[in-house]
Formats: sequence, C-alpha cells, structure tokens
Amino acid sequence: MTTKVLFPTPDDWHLHIRNSTMMPHVLNFSARQFHHMLLMTNFPPPFVPGVNANLLREYRSEVWHSSDNAKRGTIHPVLYLRSDTTPEQIWSAYTERIIAAKFYPHGGTTHSGSGLLSPRYIRPETLQALQESGIVLCLHGEVVKEVQPDPLLREFDFIPELQLLVHSYPRLKVVVEHVSDRRMVQAVLDMPSNVAMTVTAHHPFLVNFDARHDPHCNCMPVAKTQQDRDCLARLILDAHRNPKIIFGSDSAPHMAEDKIDGAAGVWSAPVAIPVLWDHFDARGGTDKWEAFVAFTSINGARFYGRQNSRSQRGTITLRRERWQVPAITDFGVVPWKAGEVLDWRVDSMRWFGEPYPG
Ligand code: NCD
Ligand code: ZN
Repeated sequence: MTTKVLFPTPDDWHLHIRNSTMMPHVLNFSARQFHHMLLMTNFPPPFVPGVNANLLREYRSEVWHSSDNAKRGTIHPVLYLRSDTTPEQIWSAYTERIIAAKFYPHGGTTHSGSGLLSPRYIRPETLQALQESGIVLCLHGEVVKEVQPDPLLREFDFIPELQLLVHSYPRLKVVVEHVSDRRMVQAVLDMPSNVAMTVTAHHPFLVNFDARHDPHCNCMPVAKTQQDRDCLARLILDAHRNPKIIFGSDSAPHMAEDKIDGAAGVWSAPVAIPVLWDHFDARGGTDKWEAFVAFTSINGARFYGRQNSRSQRGTITLRRERWQVPAITDFGVVPWKAGEVLDWRVDSMRWFGEPYPG
C-alpha cells in the first residue's frame, strides 16, 4: 500500500484569511501548504478594501509580514468591485500586479454589503478595462435574495446573467467561484475557454441537509442536492482533461459562536488537501495523481497566467497516517471535519492535530 505521495505544492485560488486579529492565526494553515493564494477581501465595514490599489498593497504587505510562510508562497488579494469602481482603478490595480477583481451579490454572503445587485451594475467601461487588462473577473455566481428568496435556486438563476456577460465581453476572463449547482457546471463547461470555475474542498462532499444539522458546514452558496454533490465529486476527477476545473477552497473561518449564530463559511484549510486526495485516491482511475495535480497546481496557475518552474513551486508530501482533527483551535475556530479521523496528512501540517492510534 502506498504510504507517501509527493505533489507539486498546490494553489488555493479562493480563500479568506481575514484582516482581523484572526489573520495571523489562520494564515499559516494555508501558507504552509499552498503556493499561490487568491485572497478574498470581503471585510466588514467601515474598511472597504479594493476600491483602490493602495489598500490592496497595504493588505498584501500586512499578510506578507504576518507569516514567514506567506513569504514562500505568492499572495494575491482581489479587488472588490462596486458600482463606482472606475476603469482608472482597474488600470491602477493592474500596475500593482492585481490579478483578479471580485463581484459579490449584494447581501448574498458574509460581508457583501458593498456588493452589487447584479454584474450588470458594474460599469461597462470598467468591464472593458478588465477585459483589456486581462484581470480575471471572479463571480460569486448567485442572484440576490430579493430576486430569488430560495438559496437553493440562486446559482441556477444566475446562469442567464453569466451568459449575458460572456456574450457581451467575449474576451473577458471569468471564473465562476465555488460552483455548487450541476446546471451551472454544465453552463461553464459549454462556454469558451476564457470562462472557468473553482470547486471548493467541501461542496463535492456536502448536501444541503448537512448544514441544517451542523452549523459548521453552513456556507454560501449553500450545498445543494445529492446529484449536485456527486456531479462535483466526479467533475474534479476529470481536471487533467479539462483546464476549466480549478481548486479554490473558499476556506472561510468564523469564530465558533458566530457559526452557531448562522455565519456562512467553512474553515477547510487545515483538512482540504488530505480530504481531497483521499477522494482522488479512492475514486480516481490510474491517472488520479495527474488529475489531482491538474486540479490543485496546474489549471488555476495556467488560467491566471502564473505558472511557475518546478523549483519555484516546490513540493508537498502526503503521508498515509491516521490523525484526528481537533474539535476547536485555541483561537476559537472550529475546523471542517472537527473530531473526525483522516487517513492522510500533509507533512508541513503535522503540528496540527494528534496522531490517531491504530
Ligand atoms: C465567505 C466568508 O465567510 O467570507 N463565506 C462563505 O460561506 N463562503 C464568503 C463567500 O465566499 O461567499
Ligand atoms: Zn469565499
């Protein structure tokens, strides 16, 4: 039986490490395992990031100084799009080496108060600047709750919005983030190669019911049906055959008490890679290693134009070693899979959790 597997260091093309006191704590869980990290900037008011490049520069520098591990990887904060974001701000972000801008549906998820009712509210000249600059438009692909009160249908209802956008800006690079509905997956697969999607570590394994009995599984977009879950679980195994399939954990820590009160976000960073590899190992074919590598370290970097040489990227080792995921951290965040025993462990993460006997 294989006891050790080596992979190119993976990337996480969608994660939240926050800008609060929580940040130095959660950062290492990602920085010790990932190379490129696309950092979401949906911070609470009054600090509204992303409206100009200086704030992003400051945030990048703050993250960089918070962890030695962050210095090894490459951190990319995203620009948070608002209705008043101008083409000049896009071009200034471009000169600051910002590689992505994010659309949030207003009120649709954690700290999305500065988001928009629809991508149609992004100024046309701003979308034009994104298209010309090659900055990727990341979409939280759901309609707002005023349009669709049922969270199970919000992603499906967003498909026409996506189609309109892709039709109107045919060279715009678009990533539909954290896909969760099989009909959205199909829509993205049917689109040209400038439209891709990220798949989280948790949506391929959760259904809506899971979050209803465990608040720590509650996230936006909500996990959907068994068919949607199984579609995602199959999809990622095909990542070496389709460059549109990109890993983005959407790891999103919240304090335990906020989760109990209904905060949306699954903190998956400590367990994402072992959980995913376990799935590829058990369900993938003879080419499971290639599929895992394409999903976690090739497709995203290629889409974002950030490929690295093997030596720049380095490697991670996964060991077949049973360990128990802690119930909660000393800084008060409950990880996904808390208390469960996993079969694989990332070497650089062995400081977290205890070996499980037997
Ligand atoms: C994210 C968060 O907590 O910031 N929550 C989530 O459920 N995914 C926001 C987001 O990505 O929608
Ligand atoms: Zn997110």
